[in-house]
Amino acid sequence: MAVLVTGGAGYIGSHTLIELHKAGLESIVYDNLSNASEESLQRVEHIIGKEIPFVKGDTRDKEQLRELFSNYSIDGVIHFAGLKAVGESVQKPLEYYDNNVIGTLRLLEVMREFDCKSIIFSSSATVYGEPEMVPIKEEFSTGNGITNPYGRSKYMIEEILKDLSKSDSSWKIVILRYFNPIGAHESGLIGEDPNGIPNNLMPYISQVAVGKLNELQVFGDNYPTVDGTGVRDYIHVVDLANAHVKALEYIQKQDVMQEPLIVNAGTGMGYSVLEVVKAFERASGKKIPKKIVARRAGDIAICYADVSRAQEILGWSAEFDLEKMCADSWNWQKKNPNGYEAS
Ligand code: NAD
Ligand code: UD1
Repeated sequence: MAVLVTGGAGYIGSHTLIELHKAGLESIVYDNLSNASEESLQRVEHIIGKEIPFVKGDTRDKEQLRELFSNYSIDGVIHFAGLKAVGESVQKPLEYYDNNVIGTLRLLEVMREFDCKSIIFSSSATVYGEPEMVPIKEEFSTGNGITNPYGRSKYMIEEILKDLSKSDSSWKIVILRYFNPIGAHESGLIGEDPNGIPNNLMPYISQVAVGKLNELQVFGDNYPTVDGTGVRDYIHVVDLANAHVKALEYIQKQDVMQEPLIVNAGTGMGYSVLEVVKAFERASGKKIPKKIVARRAGDIAICYADVSRAQEILGWSAEFDLEKMCADSWNWQKKNPNGYEAS
């Protein structure tokens, strides 16, 4: 099976290429490199000992997508390509809807033209907005209380995929709702390489540990949680990568699908900011200076997944614990203090 991996040069995509290879699947990467460099792909090739075809291109470029589908025989698509910075999406809503929603529409149109109707889509727990309760189940309502255009673009794409599936049951669609991916490949050769000052917790902590940032700001300590700080479901990126392999295997077994399969991709465990900091300190042997500051706008108190559907339907569950996530994040950061840039 040959899989088109849009956004394959990025953080989750690059890790998924390795797991696809391990499962005996061929990949073709399509990425406009707006938030990645080819260096990540070269390192993946080094890890797997094999070249991966790469086409630099944009998901909104229909002509180039047609050329891609003409040149390669593609059986299915894993669609990672998109913009993902929450704060930036508030400043640049049109750019976010254009890239994420229009990019997905163009891709789906070309897939239909070439009768390639299997797709796995990278969604986010953010579509649940402020969840009714935890753990969060897939059938909970979505689309309400989403605080930013990034999250809304994911919700819109999910709705588009549901409508598409309703119109034609030969489309086989899996929507994975990622919780909080962290960690890195254990080689330390690939990992998360955010632009500028990181917005997310783990890259921020890692950059404090390596001396690039002075101290972590903890956004609020008065939430109704174990220690007052926000609780999230962190998942090792390699586990998450494997969920895509399982989703592809699932799709291959289905003749038709009446609706998209929607699956939470998390561990089912919630950890507070302070618990993550402690785990990171243990894994790295570094002290993380921190200061409690005001809550961040748009943040929720607690978010973790009910993972029973993933286990029951995909036969997938996360293996790696928080210690391993922190150890691998640190291994990547200390070996690559400036991400891919320094190489
Ligand atoms: P990333 O930015 O590292 O990877 C996305 C890749 O897509 C980048 O390599 C970028 O260059 C490429 N890209 C962006 N727009 C493109 C376009 N129009 N055409 C072609 N390529 C394009 O992000 P990631 O963390 O690997 O996330 C992958 C996907 O998972 C994204 O859709 C993201 O929204 C989603 N997601 C990520 C997280 C997370 O915490 N990392 C959580 C939930 C969902
Ligand atoms: C954020 C996004 C969400 C996205 C997810 C994964 C927002 C409002 N939400 O979620 O849409 O799907 O990333 O990419 O940005 N924290 C600190 N200090 C920091 C950074 C974070 O205390 O410097 C805290 C946060 O308040 C939160 C936890 O750490 O409680 C995790 O934050 P983060 O890594 O940004 O992820 P989410 O808030 O879950």
